[in-house]
Amino acid sequence: MKGLVLSGGKGTRLRPITHTINKHLIPLANKPMIHYPIETLRNAGITDIGIIVGHTEEKIKEIKNAIGDGSQFGVKVTYIEQDVPGGLAHAVKVAKEFLMTDNPDKKFILHLGDNIVKGGIKKYVESFENGDMDSIILLKDVPNPSRFGVAEIKDGKIVRLVEKPTVAPNNFALVGIYMFNDSIFDPIENLKPSWRNELEITDAIQGLIDSGKKVVHHIIDVEWWKDPGDTEGILEANSLLLDDIIPFNKGTVEEGAVIIGKVGIDEGTIIKSGSSVKGPALIGKNCVIGKNAYIGPHTSIGNNTVIENAEIESSVIIGDSKISCKQRIIDSLIGRNVTISEASENLPRGASQLVVGEHSVVKI
Ligand code: DAU
Repeated sequence: MKGLVLSGGKGTRLRPITHTINKHLIPLANKPMIHYPIETLRNAGITDIGIIVGHTEEKIKEIKNAIGDGSQFGVKVTYIEQDVPGGLAHAVKVAKEFLMTDNPDKKFILHLGDNIVKGGIKKYVESFENGDMDSIILLKDVPNPSRFGVAEIKDGKIVRLVEKPTVAPNNFALVGIYMFNDSIFDPIENLKPSWRNELEITDAIQGLIDSGKKVVHHIIDVEWWKDPGDTEGILEANSLLLDDIIPFNKGTVEEGAVIIGKVGIDEGTIIKSGSSVKGPALIGKNCVIGKNAYIGPHTSIGNNTVIENAEIESSVIIGDSKISCKQRIIDSLIGRNVTISEASENLPRGASQLVVGEHSVVKI
């Protein structure tokens, strides 16, 4: 059985961050988002994995840099270009040759690159490998089903799937992890673009159901599932992942610095006297947490970042940034090469000076 992980698409809900970084490379607990799906597949025994990448040179290069040939995960990776972000079913269509070559039972698992589950999917993969169904889809009870594809179930069977319904028939969202055999390519061939001008995998699965194929669903009992498609989702997923870190210290903690709870401090990082870090928190490589800085719970700080005289909590600082202001920054997602400092003396009292790119959000 092969795997397919998607890292194409537009990532519009995560602008401005996605103007310069692929959504799937945003770090969660200091690891690119896309590493989690690859690990989930590997842990379920799937080691031959195709990665769908967007079509621009830049997009392909950055994903390749983060994943390489897959050996760091113990898997073999093949990159497949999707010429336009034409939808999830379009991505599967583009990957047909990879998926159906050297794959005797013609079965594969599609894992969206922005979905993370805690607890693994091994038992579902095994039941698909050993069973005679044409597809397994995974569902999860959610409070906000209209954000997802939703499955209507009658007498224990799925009767209808709707993508982002205005009024959802129930709370069972489609998790972005699907198992198929080669029968999925028939409905994909006949798909028409949806209201969002995409070939929807939801419609293709509906096609399987309508033609009498065996589509089985499981309401997953994983500890949590997240689809971090917006800032709130990123912060939530980061926070859940930090809850599970094992503390480590590869850097230097000066005398007089206070470390409380589970904290990971990477190589070359200095936690200076007079600062405090309260976990769960991760601090990347070559960072300086200076005097009077406070790093609060559920914060990840990427490499080469300096924080001084500032308080940061429940946030993701991607890296290469300098934050030195007497402010408490919370629930924030801060991109690369950002400077947040005290207002200079020649500004009127209480004034802020901003150089902020397109689609930024600033709350002061
Ligand atoms: O997260 C679960 C949801 O994912 C499901 O409940 C929905 O039924 C399913 O349609 C999907 O909805 P989203 O609106 O969240 O999909 P999104 O456009 O964010 O794309 C999902 C992933 O697929 C993301 O990792 C980007 C990638 N992608 C997307 C498109 C449209 C591609 O690689 N190529 C594409 O053409």
